[in-house]
Amino acid sequence: MRDLFKGWGRGQRASATTVEHPPLKIKPRHVGIIMDGNGRWARKRGLPRMAGHRAGMIAMREVIRACDDFGIECVTLYAFSTENWKRPMPEVEYLMHLPEQFFRSEIDELVSRGVRVRFMGDTSALPPYTQETVRNSLERTAENTGMTVNFALNYGGRAELMSAMSRFAQAVAKGDLGVEDLTEERFESYLDTAGLPPLDLVIRTSGEIRLSNFLIWQAAYAELWFTDVLWPDFRKDDLYQAILDFGGRKRRYGDVE
Ligand code: FPP
Repeated sequence: MRDLFKGWGRGQRASATTVEHPPLKIKPRHVGIIMDGNGRWARKRGLPRMAGHRAGMIAMREVIRACDDFGIECVTLYAFSTENWKRPMPEVEYLMHLPEQFFRSEIDELVSRGVRVRFMGDTSALPPYTQETVRNSLERTAENTGMTVNFALNYGGRAELMSAMSRFAQAVAKGDLGVEDLTEERFESYLDTAGLPPLDLVIRTSGEIRLSNFLIWQAAYAELWFTDVLWPDFRKDDLYQAILDFGGRKRRYGDVE
């Protein structure tokens, strides 16, 4: 496993982007990304699945940089779902070490870009070393006012909704709130995305066309964009295409034109 981390942070291939991108006129404020296809990327090359996750982490770094360069306010990355615990133990363990690896080499650049790091999901169930990375990266970037990078770690949309409902019900049971206080706005204040801009665009790679329990409340009016590109191959140009497409969509929110 150690070999798969070797060289991370030192001289990896920079973004494959060669194209100059004309400025984007219409941009999503908040982009959510389902980073899918790491395993298939590795299999196509006869490599272990972990090599796919490692390459996926490089893609993630490039896409965070690209989001910042394009002036996106917030990007939420689906890094580990509540269902991912079902994977073989060595793979889960590898995935749990990725945040440590990632922040060790990237935190200085994130700080210099003014990026604020957030996490959503039940991080209290993560191994102690992952929790420590979560704490450190939150602390290091707490004062930053630039783009927010929100990592979904041990996250599931249904679990998020259940937790929000349960906390609201507890407030009602204690007499702090009444049932009539349940508005959409108040409900959203109980979600893991409270305080973030509304989700405008969801991107999913690898040809799968579903949400897989990702931001299921928040995606109600988001634009969805799917590509066959496997996550480790996804780069700035792909993100640019997704944002261009987004800019051409008519968002009616149930209204007529
Ligand atoms: C889905 O591909 C990908 C994941 C479950 C992991 C995604 C994680 C990263 C890209 C890096 C996370 C890093 C940090 C620092 C949080 P898959 O394995 O399901 O691919 P497959 O469908 O082809 O098997």
